[in-house]
Amino acid sequence: MFKPFRTAAVLGAGVMGTQIAAHLANAGLTVHLLDLPAQTGDKNDLVEGAFKKALKQSPPIFYTQKTAQRVILGNYDQHFDRLANVDWVIEAVVENLAVKHELMARVEKTVRSDAVISTNTSGLSIHAIAQGRSKAFRQRFLGTHFFNPPRYLKLLELIPTAETNLQVLAQMEWFGRLYLGKGIVIAKDTPNFIANRIGIFVTLLGVKALTEQGYTIEEIDTLSGVLVGRPKSGIFRTADLVGLDTLLYVADNLYPAIPTDERQDLFQAPELMRKLVETGTLGAKSGQGFYKKVKGEIQSIN
Ligand code: NAI
Repeated sequence: MFKPFRTAAVLGAGVMGTQIAAHLANAGLTVHLLDLPAQTGDKNDLVEGAFKKALKQSPPIFYTQKTAQRVILGNYDQHFDRLANVDWVIEAVVENLAVKHELMARVEKTVRSDAVISTNTSGLSIHAIAQGRSKAFRQRFLGTHFFNPPRYLKLLELIPTAETNLQVLAQMEWFGRLYLGKGIVIAKDTPNFIANRIGIFVTLLGVKALTEQGYTIEEIDTLSGVLVGRPKSGIFRTADLVGLDTLLYVADNLYPAIPTDERQDLFQAPELMRKLVETGTLGAKSGQGFYKKVKGEIQSIN
């Protein structure tokens, strides 16, 4: 029998960090949600802004407004020492290996020796993120890949490395099923694991169907949405929800990681996606992606 996690720290208050923090609070945990400090002043502007926005999200990410009180906001500069009091640290910062790697060095200096540490990376090497950390740290480290939106999507991929302690993996599997209500799949530490290797492939194919085959965004969403068993939305609406910048990071990380894959070219990020990201068109988080709101109506950018 394992001990359930009672306290957690989520690093990164973006699309996923806020929602993971909310889902852990729904499960009864006290959660510290931290992000970069504000550029001016000593307030937690960034995390507070993100949290306020998250509270208005529809469908709601918290079971009740009261549940939201279990989330304690902070920033890395002033509140990193809180990591010394938590059972589980989840990293959900930008999909960049150097950033995650550096953050883990800081986490190692602060966490309790029995805390579990995990990353929500979409597909970077779990082994590489923990490289340079102590053996004891690496034994308590694994990938916990939640899907967006984490309150509603049932899948949780767990990605152990060759060094992850099997008891840690078993505890996470037990906790994920029993407390977070997840269906667990244990994946290998290969680029983009299982679900996202398929997911990014389908997304990129959708963009190519748009730019090369004359389909519209609406047509592709109809063809790839609820009719084929997706819970709510097709390729482009999902892409807007995920964030086009995150999808581009995923594609750009994956492409060089699979040089011997005969399908490598199919994973090359389309120019349209790069252009949209360059102009700050990031999806729901920036207010416009493949769709935008015009006078209250949602329209595609066809
Ligand atoms: P996001 O772009 O919404 O948020 C990223 C967060 O990282 C921001 O709050 C930002 O302040 C922080 N950040 C940026 N630079 C930083 C730095 N140098 N040091 C520390 N923090 C920094 O990203 P999102 O979508 O929440 O993704 C977070 C992680 O979750 C990524 O690894 C992503 O691949 C993964 N993921 C994303 C999913 C999605 O649907 N968006 C689904 C599953 C996994």
